[in-house]
Amino acid sequence: MRNRRCRLLCLLSIILYFVTLSAPVYAAAPGNGKPAGSAGPEETTTDLPSDANRLYHIPEDMIIYIPIRPLVEQLGGIIEWNSADSSILIISPDGRKISHVPETRVLYINGTQTDAALLSVLQNGVTYFPVPLINQLLGNNAEYDDAANTVTLSSPAPETDQTMLELKRSSELDFYLSENLFRYMDYLTLHPEYALSRAIAYVNAGVDQPFFSNLREIDDPESTLVLCNKHHILPTDYEPDDLTYLSGTAQRLRSEAAAAYEKMKKEAASEGYWFTVYSGYRSYSTQKRLYERYAAVDGADGADDYSARPGHSEHQAGLAIDISAGVREAELGHTETFRWLSENAYRFGFILRYPDGYSEITGYQYEPWHWRYVGIEAATIMHDEQIPTFEEFCGKYLIAR
Ligand code: DAL
Ligand code: ZN
Repeated sequence: MRNRRCRLLCLLSIILYFVTLSAPVYAAAPGNGKPAGSAGPEETTTDLPSDANRLYHIPEDMIIYIPIRPLVEQLGGIIEWNSADSSILIISPDGRKISHVPETRVLYINGTQTDAALLSVLQNGVTYFPVPLINQLLGNNAEYDDAANTVTLSSPAPETDQTMLELKRSSELDFYLSENLFRYMDYLTLHPEYALSRAIAYVNAGVDQPFFSNLREIDDPESTLVLCNKHHILPTDYEPDDLTYLSGTAQRLRSEAAAAYEKMKKEAASEGYWFTVYSGYRSYSTQKRLYERYAAVDGADGADDYSARPGHSEHQAGLAIDISAGVREAELGHTETFRWLSENAYRFGFILRYPDGYSEITGYQYEPWHWRYVGIEAATIMHDEQIPTFEEFCGKYLIAR
């Protein structure tokens, strides 16, 4: 019996020797967080921050638990808390997306459900992972040295992932939402061309999801800041109760937007610019008729480029106007009137809603005629910060989904 134990220990030592030789080493040792000692070219040894050293044993089974946050961060991964479902979101150093609800077996790796090797524990707001679970998730070979009170993690050196590095920086942004971590990662990977803060805002606004795939019914259609697009739909029966005629037209807008329009038109006139509105408020049924007529000609895909499906039009919210300046629609964008509007409309609370080059975000082709009332404050922020789409503004200042 004694002999068998001896042989087993010997065998284990040999295996451990080779595992340690073949891989870089990360060590969590009590210390000040500075790199510890010299390391060979194939070996990296680093102290974890001091709060990572609160290792403890469960007396009966001697399992070692390690605070997971500093460990993941030290290894080069990202860890966040998702308050929506009380889960922990981890992007491992090798880019795997892991979600886990502490103290349960709930564990997803890249969206696939897996059973947690052992339960994690949550104590005083700190989540501790048992070493076997760390090995399962991070692919490390974790060993605990009782005498030295160190944990040594052997793992392949993680590649320096540019997206991951950028994402780490983004957590300082006001509108960074920890629960969106995986979506940020996916979106940034798909769109490396977008500035980080822009990509984060787009995800917050739901732009990372395919059009019409995950529709949300708008619950505050009266708000002048309502986001109505291919992701957000107005209630079928929504009709503003303060529609007001615009002078000299048969078109109506919500009263606040109508007043702003009249002021804008007056000031433009005083500077020698003229325009009128040929479409303002449109009911759900009018929009339905319009869309169906276009779809009969251009097919649904074609119509979707320029016409909102019923329930998806800002015209139904009574906050959008289509402007004519006496030239053909296609030429409007080249007129002096359009230039005046582009420079001044924000002072009255209007924005160009479907700018050139942003169809992927707004869902529509360039529409120099379609102006949207959002109020002076929002329009001024968009102007001053050069935010081209309302989706980006909403993702930065209004919504999180
Ligand atoms: N043309 C815009 C997208 C609308 O139909 O509301
Ligand atoms: Zn329009």
